[in-house]
Amino acid sequence: MEFFVGRSSEIERLRSMVRRSARGTLGVGFVTGERGIGKSSLAAFARRVAEQDVAEAGSAAVGCHVYLGGVADVPEMLRRIFHRLLNESVDKPWHRQLTNFLGNRIQRAGLFGVTLDLNLTRSDLETLARDFVPAMRNLLRSLPKPKRTIFLVLDDINGLAASEAFANWLKSSVDEFATSAPEAGLCIVVVGLEERRRELLAGQPSLARVFDVVDIAPWSDDEVADFYHQYFRRGRASISDEDIGILVRYTGGLPVLAHELGDAVWRTARTSRISGSEVIEGIVVAAEVIGSKLLEPRILKALQSERYRAILRQIADGPRMHFRRSRILARLDAGEKRSLDNFLRRMRDLGAIEADPEVRGGYRFPNRLHALYFYMESQRHSRRRTLS
Ligand SMILES: Nc1ncnc2c1ncn2[C@@H]1O[C@H](COP(=O)(O)OP(=O)(O)OP(=O)(O)O)[C@@H](O)[C@H]1O
Ligand SMILES: [Mg+2]
Repeated sequence: MEFFVGRSSEIERLRSMVRRSARGTLGVGFVTGERGIGKSSLAAFARRVAEQDVAEAGSAAVGCHVYLGGVADVPEMLRRIFHRLLNESVDKPWHRQLTNFLGNRIQRAGLFGVTLDLNLTRSDLETLARDFVPAMRNLLRSLPKPKRTIFLVLDDINGLAASEAFANWLKSSVDEFATSAPEAGLCIVVVGLEERRRELLAGQPSLARVFDVVDIAPWSDDEVADFYHQYFRRGRASISDEDIGILVRYTGGLPVLAHELGDAVWRTARTSRISGSEVIEGIVVAAEVIGSKLLEPRILKALQSERYRAILRQIADGPRMHFRRSRILARLDAGEKRSLDNFLRRMRDLGAIEADPEVRGGYRFPNRLHALYFYMESQRHSRRRTLS
């Protein structure tokens, strides 16, 4: 990653988790937070920190970040983990130990000699799943002394969260690890949405005590401003504090939106001195990009309707997370009024909004991304009108 903003307390928590694991346990963290909030980035950053921490102490912490999107069972997960570990180890001092561990299952240099292929059969993988703890202990013991710790990030565990086998595997690995000799440690950090964590707990309730949860909150306005300052400074562009303030308002603390907005403004700017109107144009462009890249296609499709758009504009005339039906109703014309309840139902079914249990006739956005998209979209419309 190019530069990293904020998150110091979260990094500290993950760091101390690794230190605790290094004393001979299996620590399990769960990094959670809404889409685009920076879960994967935090895990990646913490992994670098952990590697450096122990490297400075003259020891060997081994980091590995695996994306498990589309993986639905434990054996397949293990295949991905060891494939990744093997390929990350290539230029590391512990490469030989890992190749010894995997033995003759390493097949050949992959295409163009870039990757190593690992030919583990289904039955190898099932054995590995069953004997995971003793196998890991063997591997950890063989790593260069003095400290032997593996920091393993299991990212995008969507498919696995529904698997009771995965939940049980995790729980029993923790228990088994705790009862064996304390000479090496393993720190697993699972990364996923809060729904995924709940799904895992439904399959194995005692995981609740196992997870060390790191819940990532949106950036503060100062952090977002810090992000934009760094972003434009790197591009040697200047932008006024007032315009940064406008971008901050549209970002709503979401790093993924900060990147999209920054990129869009950057592309729109004609000179290195970015003007206020270029910022607005950039926001308009970003709304389009974000719609097609980040929004669920069914929501985008529903919003093609001109009436629905008119309603959306009344809801999102500012960056709000809540609204009331009565307030919107008062602002619509007769035809739009008739469509309001359909709109609300449709957006609810698609998960873009939900009823606010605390306010009668109140609604809220469960996901910041949608709230901000609605806001940008309404901005886009009024902008287009003034442009044309
Ligand atoms: N602390 C940070 N500093 C700078 N950029 C960040 C930071 N956190 C996240 N980003 C950027 O924001 C974008 C989204 O981050 P990331 O992919 O880590 O989010 P996520 O929570 O893993 O999303 P998803 O739920 O889609 O997996 C990326 O472009 C990333 O580089
Ligand atoms: Mg991610």
